[in-house]
Amino acid sequence: MSLVIEGIHTYYGLVHMLQGVSMEINAGELVGILGRNGAGKTTTIKSVMGLAPPKSGKVLLKGEDIAGMPPHIIAQKGISYVPASRGIFSTLSAFENLKIFEKKGARFDAEGVFNMFPRLNEMKGRHGSSLSGGEQQMLAIGRSLVTDPSVILLDEPSQGLAPQIVELVVEMLETLKAEGMAIVLVEQNLQLALDVSDRVYILDHGEVVFHGKGSQLNDDPELTAEYLGVSA
Ligand SMILES: Nc1ncnc2c1ncn2[C@@H]1O[C@H](COP(=O)(O)OP(=O)(O)OP(=O)(O)O)[C@@H](O)[C@H]1O
Ligand SMILES: [Mg+2]
Repeated sequence: MSLVIEGIHTYYGLVHMLQGVSMEINAGELVGILGRNGAGKTTTIKSVMGLAPPKSGKVLLKGEDIAGMPPHIIAQKGISYVPASRGIFSTLSAFENLKIFEKKGARFDAEGVFNMFPRLNEMKGRHGSSLSGGEQQMLAIGRSLVTDPSVILLDEPSQGLAPQIVELVVEMLETLKAEGMAIVLVEQNLQLALDVSDRVYILDHGEVVFHGKGSQLNDDPELTAEYLGVSA
């Protein structure tokens, strides 16, 4: 098991946001986290990353409890976070955006990432500021690769992207999965999440209210209506 989240409780001040959340993600697996606005999806991945450290519970990375460690240490240990804001440096080229995050001894350097993703290669010399939202998203995913992660946490990568671009992002995720990464995908787009996820968790008010295969959700319109406000 790559990543095991065991009964974490996370607070924002006095607000008890995550109330005993548990999840498991294997290498080579893509797990979706679904839920309405404010359900605690981003908080869950921030808790793993150390950006919203849990007050109790465990976050086990290949068996080691990393809960509460600082984010840069968690990153060094092999978890990569691609925030919804993408975080591309606008004054650097796409190549430089990858280059500055390269890690010695990583399986992929910037060139390796460009070789694997031809679409990224096309934008290699362009500045971050001249990339579209979709291109920035692809670059942000590529950038996470050069840090040599075993686990990638993605927060709503499809947000605001045209359908053809979402397709390209999905292709990237499938490639990473085939490379043996464990991928956690926070997603509001239910159909997308069901298409790419091996398993999904639904969060509601900081608790896991469903865990299972996406196909079970397709078969249960009441569940999706109750917790996602949509029909699958
Ligand atoms: N830094 C913070 N301080 C206080 N409250 C916060 C903070 N970050 C998030 N919250 C609150 O915690 C709740 C859960 O937020 P979270 O970002 O995890 O939701 P989410 O499921 O990712 O929602 P969305 O779909 O809108 O991204 C929300 O009510 C939010 O307002
Ligand atoms: Mg969020």
